[in-house]
Amino acid sequence: MLTITDKTALRKQLVEWHQVGESVALVPTMGNLHKGHLSLVQLAAEHAERVVVSVFVNPTQFGPDEDFAQYPRTPEKDARLLKRAGVDVLFMPDVDEVYPNGAEDATEVSVPAISDILCGAHRPGHFDGVASVVLRLFNMVSPNIAVFGQKDYQQLVILRKMASDLHLPVKILAGQTHRDDSGLAMSSRNQYLTDEELEIAPLLYQTLTDAKDKLLAGEQDVATIQSAAIEQLSAGGFGPDYFEIRKAGDLSPVTEPKGNMVIVTAAMLGKARLIDNLLVES
Ligand code: PAJ
Repeated sequence: MLTITDKTALRKQLVEWHQVGESVALVPTMGNLHKGHLSLVQLAAEHAERVVVSVFVNPTQFGPDEDFAQYPRTPEKDARLLKRAGVDVLFMPDVDEVYPNGAEDATEVSVPAISDILCGAHRPGHFDGVASVVLRLFNMVSPNIAVFGQKDYQQLVILRKMASDLHLPVKILAGQTHRDDSGLAMSSRNQYLTDEELEIAPLLYQTLTDAKDKLLAGEQDVATIQSAAIEQLSAGGFGPDYFEIRKAGDLSPVTEPKGNMVIVTAAMLGKARLIDNLLVES
């Protein structure tokens, strides 16, 4: 595995691969890798001859009061895991490499409307930062395929829309959410949880499962399912931001349960903001 930090060296390697017709898959990450990230790497390897993983804690997607400074950074461990997973290139740029004219006042790309709902309503500017860095990574790597997790469902929908709106020559693949035995979705932010909070955390997935069961049992009242879930989470010790049943394709509201839906939720538990979702195909 090559570890590359500058875009000229990266480009040289990519041109070589593209010239001999080898396909390239990119898995963008912010590092502190866990099994969820590694499952995306595996999916990438199944769909392309070469796999590039980027590790970059992107400052522009963090709000001023968010955890950019504390975000866990474990570059040596990440490199070890990626090497073992058979990754070809680990791209680990610093901020100046990604934002050559500074991260402040850098050119932005914004996917309107959908970036302002759900997590976007609670984290203003977050998805503009995500779209802006992912477009830069696409431009630096020129991947044929890019892999993202369903765990960050809204992010996935936004990035698919950006790729479609801007005719980006990249195919976006989605990997399933990797969970531990309790159902808790793996996340770098789970490290912020105390032992006591870790025992409570699986309630998030349990609440999603309960809501999904109600929909599958034919319950029609979306608002009641949502408010029961908010109560369940609050009673369990969470501070829920939202719990919503939405259309799976574009995250627009569901009034009457039908078609492909996704139940999306975000809730604070102690210092950690946890997000999760479940697809419902009816
Ligand atoms: P990060 O949180 O590091 O996640 C990198 C990728 O891993 C994302 O596509 C995310 O959806 C996926 N992922 C996270 N937890 C997962 C799990 N439990 N199972 C499967 N996949 C999981 O998401 C970001 O970084 C950033 O916003 C990024 C896209 C890299 C832009 O900076």
